[in-house]
Amino acid sequence: MGMENKTLIIGGTKGIGKAITEQLSNHECYIVSRSESSLPNHFMVDALTGDLPDIDGLTGLVYCPGSINLKPFHRLTQEDFINDYQKNVLGAVRVLQFYFRTLKKNNGSVVLFGTVASQQGMPFHASIAAAKGGLEALARSLAAEWAPNIRVNIVNPSLTDTPLAEALLSTEQKRENAAMRHPLKKIGSPADIAKAAIFCLENDWVTGQTIGVDGGMSAVRV
Ligand SMILES: NC(=O)c1ccc[n+]([C@@H]2O[C@H](COP(=O)([O-])OP(=O)(O)OC[C@H]3O[C@@H](n4cnc5c(N)ncnc54)[C@H](OP(=O)(O)O)[C@@H]3O)[C@@H](O)[C@H]2O)c1
Repeated sequence: MGMENKTLIIGGTKGIGKAITEQLSNHECYIVSRSESSLPNHFMVDALTGDLPDIDGLTGLVYCPGSINLKPFHRLTQEDFINDYQKNVLGAVRVLQFYFRTLKKNNGSVVLFGTVASQQGMPFHASIAAAKGGLEALARSLAAEWAPNIRVNIVNPSLTDTPLAEALLSTEQKRENAAMRHPLKKIGSPADIAKAAIFCLENDWVTGQTIGVDGGMSAVRV
């Protein structure tokens, strides 16, 4: 693997996407986000609605935008479900349809992000779990439809220390409680999740997989 890898990270400016960009020193990285950034090859575009940049020779695509909207089910509105679906699923669909041809031409690899909460039922996660569960099914469907040309995998994090999770980790007590809920007794770091995403990008014999990077949350009870 050399600089012949051209990878687009939608949401490469913060959190998990930023950690992926930092770890991909052997890839030529392109980045899309809504806010301004001084990162090289950055395009300020809303991936849900804006004009996506044409990138010839794309070999990798990572879609990071996501939401954490936790409410008791009886308080979730139709709009909550629509917004979560829009950002997590339809945004990814739009980007994948846009880059499909170049990815196919270059035997590309796609990485999406789900959540531990679509594997392990968790209170107040109904809307996001429904959306991410859909995204996970989309990833497997596309892995089948696009084989052998494009690989598609999904990484399912548990609570990770990023701007998206800020409200859940805003005090030492919250951080400690969150860590203790995980079998491995810590919350995730963006770098932990990025390593799994890069494994999916670079391993040519992996497709259709859901990879839990979740401190043991989806599989282990201690
Ligand atoms: N953090 C967690 O605890 C956790 C847990 C489970 C799953 N996940 C999933 O992991 C993924 C990454 O999460 P994260 O915590 O790293 O998120 P984050 O901190 O919110 O970062 C998201 C990145 O995406 C960009 N972005 C958001 N909406 C966009 C849009 N419409 N168009 C273009 N760029 C957009 C953001 O930049 P701008 O705001 O400038 O656009 C930012 O660079 C998400 O899919 C999330 O659901 C995270």
